[in-house]
Amino acid sequence: MISSLATLESQIQAEDLHDAASVEAFRIKYLGRKNGLLTDLFSQIGKIAPEERKAYGAAVNTLKQLVEARLTAAQAFVEAAQKQAVAQAIDLTLPGRMQPVGGLHPIRQTMEEIKRIFLSFGFGVAEGPEIEEDWYNFSALNFPPDHPARDMQDTFFVEAPNNENGGVVLRTHTSPVQVRTMQNTQPPIRIIAPGRVYRNETITYKSYCLFHQVEGLYVDEQVTFADLKQVLRMFAEAAFGVGVKMRFRPSFFPFTEPSAEVDIWWQNEDGSGRWLEILGCGMVDPNVLENCGIDSEKYTGYAFGMGVERIAMLRHGITDIRVLYENDLRFLEQF
Ligand code: DAH
Repeated sequence: MISSLATLESQIQAEDLHDAASVEAFRIKYLGRKNGLLTDLFSQIGKIAPEERKAYGAAVNTLKQLVEARLTAAQAFVEAAQKQAVAQAIDLTLPGRMQPVGGLHPIRQTMEEIKRIFLSFGFGVAEGPEIEEDWYNFSALNFPPDHPARDMQDTFFVEAPNNENGGVVLRTHTSPVQVRTMQNTQPPIRIIAPGRVYRNETITYKSYCLFHQVEGLYVDEQVTFADLKQVLRMFAEAAFGVGVKMRFRPSFFPFTEPSAEVDIWWQNEDGSGRWLEILGCGMVDPNVLENCGIDSEKYTGYAFGMGVERIAMLRHGITDIRVLYENDLRFLEQF
């Protein structure tokens, strides 16, 4: 009898008590009022020989204490585990944690919009270097050697001009990409060239030492000023809305003849309005075509160049160009 109690003891020790259900099953198995193993042992005490009764009772009691000790420990364990589970549970009603997502800078947004419009007209995208030879930036574009735009005041020089060439500059406009494209491709040519340009200007609310332009170039047989007017009208309607008022003003650029500047009418909410210049354009000067190895008897072309900052500022009501370059998050987060 006593030896079977010893087996029972190791059985009790070995019970796996890992959750509320197994703890309860354990309690019922050993201490349940009906058929509990220890309950039964206690009820059998009358059948034990009187001289063994004391030892038997003591042994069963020890087992009972063991069961109770295991129960207490297991219950504490299960309770703690439950508390922890509650504490760690995901509360689906809590607001989510904001993950900051970067946005596109207003200049980039405007540039992408301009690109999208011209790509839909069938233009391709061309690129050129920001550090440019004087020849591409000026000479090939028909700037006379003493043209004021070459002045140290406007141009950032990377290498000073010398006797052999005009030096190396930070490009002052995207027009040199026209030259590079025409040198490498025969017509028909239909490209835009978006990019950064640099000018050594005093920084104020309306001018900055660096800004962005989108250049356009179309060269083919029988390209006329009417084609230029049409593509720019289509652009203005796509960018500023159908029916936008625009005008072509005669102007001058060394690389186009005739040349024009385009204004759009900007209507304020209070009914007032004003003309705002958005780009320069013209028919590519035959000298430029020849400088780039294109037969100016056979081909004609138009070109245009627009300032991206100016258009971005118009669209967003920004009145100081410098905020576009300060990277103040309070400004950038509005886009
Ligand atoms: N390159 C000129 C500028 O920076 C803009 C321009 C005017 C570009 C007329 C052109 C053009 O292609 O035809 O002010």
